[in-house]
Amino acid sequence: MTDVRGVQFVAAARPTLEGAGVHLRRAFGFGKETLFDPFLLLDDFRGDDPALYRAGFPWHPHRGIETITYMLEGEVDHGDSLGNTGTIRAGDVQWMTAGSGIIHQEMPRGDAAGRMGGFQLWANLTARLKMMEPRYRGITAAEIPTFEADGAQVRVICGRLGDVSGPVHDVVIEPEYFDVALAGGAFWRHPTPPGHTVFAYLFEGAARFDTGGRDAHGMIAAGGGTIVLLGDGEAAAVEAGDEGARFLFVSGRPLREPIAWRGPVVMNTREELDQAWRDLDTGIFVRSRL
Ligand code: FE2
Repeated sequence: MTDVRGVQFVAAARPTLEGAGVHLRRAFGFGKETLFDPFLLLDDFRGDDPALYRAGFPWHPHRGIETITYMLEGEVDHGDSLGNTGTIRAGDVQWMTAGSGIIHQEMPRGDAAGRMGGFQLWANLTARLKMMEPRYRGITAAEIPTFEADGAQVRVICGRLGDVSGPVHDVVIEPEYFDVALAGGAFWRHPTPPGHTVFAYLFEGAARFDTGGRDAHGMIAAGGGTIVLLGDGEAAAVEAGDEGARFLFVSGRPLREPIAWRGPVVMNTREELDQAWRDLDTGIFVRSRL
């Protein structure tokens, strides 16, 4: 019989101030990087008051990680120090591999009603790829396929579900990234590679994530956003509450490497961190042209 994953850790996302004064909710971040390895951070920046997000994320560097932005509502204008510009629109994904270094800005804009929202996930890069050539992969909403079965509607951003394959490939940690919507009472089961880290970020409705019966968390409500880390096993099994549920479902292969993290730079050693900040001071942080 397949070993169904239980619930290992549950927490409400915490109000956090980031960038130039953006009020967001952090599902997990610094201090939880070992628990969520290979993932470092997940921010939920849904909001309906432009005063709370307008300041945005002006020019800042990244090195050693990937940032994955998934928009639900509104838009984010993006620009970088090499002259690339673009807009991430509702339903779009930007999969940015900082590698050796980029300096960019991310400026949110609401829709006509002032609503703006989405998620940014940080995935760690393995030691040999931390200084790789940076790259952007922009995926539009129309390029993201939907898998539908038995009350489950899943947008497949990365990974495979049945015969539906997501548009993002060639990522070392072999991630899955799904946006899962379950109708009231619907049951969704998904095989997951044993040993991989698996979490859900519940942002609408309520669901049970321990239907295998190993633990007793029972029904979990989304509230303002709730992170649910699953324990190891061969499959995840989720049952939606009466009002349905919507959650991000993410998995990836842990790196199990030393993590040295300072702000938007994540390396393996303190020396590499010091080097990154020296490179910023001396103007050689951006190594390669995109
Ligand atoms: Fe950024």
